[in-house]
Amino acid sequence: MQLYWHRYKYYPYEKDLALREIKSLLDPAGIHAEGHTIHLDHPLHPELVNRLVYFANSTVAGGEPVATQQNLLERVNGNGVNRQSTRYSAHGLHEYKGKFNPQVAKAMLNIFGAHPGQLVLDPFCGSGTSLVECAHLGINSVGTDINPLAVFLATAKLKSLTIPAESLLNNAKFSLIAAKRLRTEPTLEGERGDYLKLWFPLEYLSDMERLRLAIDVNGGENTSVLLAIASNLLRDYSLQEPHDLRIRRRKSPFPDKSFFDAYEEAVRAFCTRLYDAQQTLGIIEAHSKAVNVDCKKAENHPDLRQGTFDLALTSPPYAMALPYIDTQRLSLVWLDLLCPSDILSLESELVGSREIRGKGKKALLEALEANDAMLPEQESALCIRLQNTLGENDGFRRQAVPRLLYRYFANMADAFFSVSQLVKPNAPFGLIVGGNHTVLNGKRFDINTPEHLARIATTRGWQHVETVSLQAYQRYGLHMNNATSTESLVILRAAT
Ligand SMILES: C[S@@+](CC[C@H](N)C(=O)[O-])C[C@H]1O[C@@H](n2cnc3c(N)ncnc32)[C@H](O)[C@@H]1O
Repeated sequence: MQLYWHRYKYYPYEKDLALREIKSLLDPAGIHAEGHTIHLDHPLHPELVNRLVYFANSTVAGGEPVATQQNLLERVNGNGVNRQSTRYSAHGLHEYKGKFNPQVAKAMLNIFGAHPGQLVLDPFCGSGTSLVECAHLGINSVGTDINPLAVFLATAKLKSLTIPAESLLNNAKFSLIAAKRLRTEPTLEGERGDYLKLWFPLEYLSDMERLRLAIDVNGGENTSVLLAIASNLLRDYSLQEPHDLRIRRRKSPFPDKSFFDAYEEAVRAFCTRLYDAQQTLGIIEAHSKAVNVDCKKAENHPDLRQGTFDLALTSPPYAMALPYIDTQRLSLVWLDLLCPSDILSLESELVGSREIRGKGKKALLEALEANDAMLPEQESALCIRLQNTLGENDGFRRQAVPRLLYRYFANMADAFFSVSQLVKPNAPFGLIVGGNHTVLNGKRFDINTPEHLARIATTRGWQHVETVSLQAYQRYGLHMNNATSTESLVILRAAT
């Protein structure tokens, strides 16, 4: 059997993942690279060639080239000539910070040999990239996320796969007409209304609210998808600088198009991509879900059964990432998923948050000094060393770094334990983890997060199998100046 690469330029890690996929799925007796082709000797499972992520076509014994499913999906949903497409199918529904590259999520499923009939867990599922990739492969999955917007978006993406794109488009058109015809001005009352009035010019807000109302009344099963498409436009029409993930007052001009026109365009674009994907995938029966759960405490949640997941994969938050909740607050409030007054308290619950509430600062320092979470010696020692390095010139943000790192490690330890209870014995768990650095008292510290997390995991029910460096892999839309550009795939296996 011969395999042919896609036309886009590869990062070295992609070729590494490609080889791993071949070995795990097709299990050939030999692999030989020759120019643009890979020759496989006697693959044990040639029928699985269609699942490969990083190959466009295959041929068998001089026959016609057969396109892989990934090739078909990327070909019609392309990002442009010779560029890897990342927005095919439902992936482009809504921006989300730190999104998985869908190809990497699918490659991980392939490397772990995931197959229909199995159940996959993504404990930090975000906007649901891995759940969508599972659905494409006919595999059921459950995602958990503490952020209600993440759960809303993941649910909407999964839902969209079950609806014919034409019917979604028709319903969207109908809802838009209904919104335009609404004569009554929407009432903007209470905390939600006051907050939205602060952040949107009234004329846009009025259109957004009329659309929301019309979708709520007419959307039926399409509601979440249509609201998500509208939510993705909010920043462009807000008083917040749209391209700055930090919250700054707008200086750039507003778009030329009306909100309704922009919505119509966005709906068309999404439905076109969905339609193209459905030509290849068909309509997918949904048996997957995203649930609003804190994965540090997920093991006892009624929606999740212990010992039922065959494998887990995720991209966990970075230590000290930008505030997720705060940067998405316009969508959270507009969709009525969160009260404005709850933004900061939810933020502080997120793993990797920089937010420390109330008396938490002192308590965290005590926890760090006493190593309350019983972290391994190296991680505890690192946090103490950082704490002892702090100098007078370190501002209040830097003063918090050792405590925040300690809390991040402790939270990840809880998440590892929780996931270990949910998976079956021996289940693999893949994590895409990025490194960090920090400067304290003028000294630079490189924090090898993949190594730290792998070690912490071994104290919470996991064996560390391998860490694969993914050179040049960067998550999309991540805006962080203290992240290093390298990420790693950490592979763990549940204790038996
Ligand atoms: C890097 S993002 C995941 C992005 C996701 N892979 C995607 O493709 O959209 C990390 C996620 O972890 C979530 N998170 C943070 N703390 C959490 C917790 N305690 N329980 C569950 N999810 C949490 C954040 O809300 C965020 O969505």
